Amino acid sequence: MDEELRAAAREHLIRYGQGDIDRLYVSAKGATVRDDEGREILDFTSGQMCATLGHSHPAIVKAIQSGAEDAIHMFSGMIPEPVAKLAKKLAEWLPKPLSRAMFVNTGSESNEAALRMAKLVTGGYEVIALGGSWHGVTGQAAAASFASDRRGYGPKVPGVTVIPEPYAYRCPIGHCRDACDMSCMKVGLKMFDMACEGAPAAIIAEPILSAGGVIVPPKGYFKTLHEQAKKRGMMLIFDEAQTAFGRIGHKFAATQLGVTPDIMTVSKTLGGGLPLAATITSDDIEQQAHDKGYSYYTSHVSDPLPALAGLAVLETVEKENLIARASEIGGYLRDHLESLQQKYEAIGEIRGQGLLLGIELVKDRESREPHLELGQITTRRCMELGLSMNIKLRPERGAVWRIAPPLTVTRAEIDQGVEILDRALREGLDEVSKNGVA
Ligand SMILES: Cc1ncc(COP(=O)(O)O)c(C=O)c1O
Repeated sequence: MDEELRAAAREHLIRYGQGDIDRLYVSAKGATVRDDEGREILDFTSGQMCATLGHSHPAIVKAIQSGAEDAIHMFSGMIPEPVAKLAKKLAEWLPKPLSRAMFVNTGSESNEAALRMAKLVTGGYEVIALGGSWHGVTGQAAAASFASDRRGYGPKVPGVTVIPEPYAYRCPIGHCRDACDMSCMKVGLKMFDMACEGAPAAIIAEPILSAGGVIVPPKGYFKTLHEQAKKRGMMLIFDEAQTAFGRIGHKFAATQLGVTPDIMTVSKTLGGGLPLAATITSDDIEQQAHDKGYSYYTSHVSDPLPALAGLAVLETVEKENLIARASEIGGYLRDHLESLQQKYEAIGEIRGQGLLLGIELVKDRESREPHLELGQITTRRCMELGLSMNIKLRPERGAVWRIAPPLTVTRAEIDQGVEILDRALREGLDEVSKNGVA
């Protein structure tokens, strides 16, 4: 441990919302992160939901090593061989007619590029996004994000309408309880139609609203939304930052839902921990965009090194059968969490799919009042006990843990994580009752 270095981090870094810097981290391997005191911490968030193969998977390390030898970066107008290989491989994975991709760096960027394409092709600019959505922090992506962090940054890109999200546990229109009948969509679209200025472009949505609380829309939701988009001449954009490439036990949410969007974006789970994202569409839409002069020329578009990592991710997911594994280990984890739910009234709901799960903490199951204090205390306690968990704490949206370990996590690691969670909940509830907050 280097106290001076810790102090330097506190003194010289801009705080971007990451919390106090009380320690530094030195390595990450598989599902384990090590801090500067040599403590091992189980990583149940796969880093920032990106390390689906586990941290520093040998295939990624090899791809980076060979990529660094061959070419790290090139002129953006040159298409490196690894980019062509990744595009070909990705096309084999994609549901038809999606077949073309452009490789960028982050999820925000992939959505920026998608919205830019939808606007150019349709000639419109109006966008519909869901409440609780998160598409990133750049201009258009931030304008279409409603989970948090909207205040204080000045006017957003105009033309975005938010519609209520299908959050059956906390229905935003106070209509349903536990079973969403999609009235939220009807109301939202009605509002949009009233406000529409005659230039509709796109509906953008996460198939599972992750930052919004791991909300799984009801069966048929996206089929209807796609029909509604078509009716208005809008493109449907699926933001599959978290759902693509196996995490939910399917290649994509699109393949599971049987709904192929006009544009798909993928990011976090593509790069194996490296910044790699893609905006994907069909031949037809790509041609229309090209004819209208579509450009998205950035410094790192089509970079060769991250493309090799992406290729390694797709090959490893296939080779290690990780899609089936996500379902199987996800089921194992879910069973354990359901046992905890029987033990603790505070676990109001467990939701999600595969290895993208959410746990909603409440003061009691009838009122469903979010248990923000318990969320805070237990997340801190989990970390002290060696488990990193991501919690979203918002009075209006609840206290929801997002659990997304690497798809390579072992049963023993799941057991260990659940044991810590159990202890943290028990001790957290004790602390809350001592504080008299419950
Ligand atoms: C669904 C979704 N889309 C987009 C983004 C933004 O991605 P990035 O942080 O890589 O810009 C995120 C990040 O959390 C996300 O969860």
